Amino acid sequence: MLLQENIDITRRHTFGIPTQARAWGEYESVDELCQLLHEARRRDMEFMPIGQGSNLLFVRDYDGMLLHSAIKTLQFVALDNNTVLVQAGSGWVWDEFVAYCIAQGWGGIENLSYIPGTVGASAVQNVGAYGVEACDVIESVSVIDVDTLEEQTIAASECAYGYRTSRFKKEWKNKYIVTAVTYRLTKTPAFKLDYGNLRAKVGDAPTLQSVRDAVIEIRRSKLPEPAEQGSAGSFFVNPVVAREHYNQLLQQYPDMPCYEVDAEHVKVPAGWLIDRRGWKGKSVGGAMVYQQQSLVIVNTGNARAGDVVQLASDIAFSVFEAYGILIKPEVNYVCAGFKV
Ligand code: EPU
Repeated sequence: MLLQENIDITRRHTFGIPTQARAWGEYESVDELCQLLHEARRRDMEFMPIGQGSNLLFVRDYDGMLLHSAIKTLQFVALDNNTVLVQAGSGWVWDEFVAYCIAQGWGGIENLSYIPGTVGASAVQNVGAYGVEACDVIESVSVIDVDTLEEQTIAASECAYGYRTSRFKKEWKNKYIVTAVTYRLTKTPAFKLDYGNLRAKVGDAPTLQSVRDAVIEIRRSKLPEPAEQGSAGSFFVNPVVAREHYNQLLQQYPDMPCYEVDAEHVKVPAGWLIDRRGWKGKSVGGAMVYQQQSLVIVNTGNARAGDVVQLASDIAFSVFEAYGILIKPEVNYVCAGFKV
């Protein structure tokens, strides 16, 4: 267990904006997590789980204890010739876990290759890419109840998974900390290649590794490398819009793309809306709209959180003004003691 005081966390969140935290606690087991929670409570400190910090914008220094999982357990059981249940500790770096599963020949998460973050975050955020979401393969989530310090296992069906959301982001936000996630993977993968140009890149004889390679190549061409340029991936979620509203917009913008949601709704790519408003490459201070993908705000080197907040709200206003569509951040704005 590690407990550091008053530390610089600039390199512990992917935006790379200079930030201090009052305490940083790192735990390798559920027992160590409970000790850290005791300590935070004893000192009457706020606390918040943090993985790779790839979806956070620290609006100011964090006046509490950040709790970072280093639980890297791994257990698996083959249910039959085809299905394997794999339980991974929340501290696994997500892409290392994906690579491990692919090396074992277990399919289901190859489309989710190269997403920044951790196993724990995958179950909170329901990460998704190229037609697959984590909830498609999550079987259950193991947690600690922060009030009782009891362990629980929650079935995925109880987690109200949706597009980039779950109960862990809503009513369970301050109730549970994820300690492990169990995924249902398969030895005879049903490849999902219909998103964008994935099929064209993979070719006619897909393997888990060739799908992974193609996804990594596409992501690298569109998204900044976290190690090279600060960002938090997609800054906004794609808005769900009434089909009637979308049909009206089509008259003015006939090339506006959409994804089907249900009979009454479609999802419109926020990147397209932002791009058509001319935001690519525009900046406020050190925050800039990424040239290759308008959905991403990057730190050009000296961004302050206020620059990002200003740029994001200017973008949202300009999109609303043009299309009557309100786009909302995917990134969590973190203030001391609470998230907005
Ligand atoms: N588009 C533009 N200009 C842009 C960006 C996009 O015109 O600057 C258009 C594209 O041409 C395409 C459409 O918008 O027609 C969608 O673009 P893309 O395929 O890049 O996907 P996205 O909707 O922008 C989402 C996820 C990504 C995920 C990709 C692939 C969200 C918020 N983002 O992006 O996830 O990798 O699909 O599945 O749903 C993340 O969550 O951090 C993330 C990167």
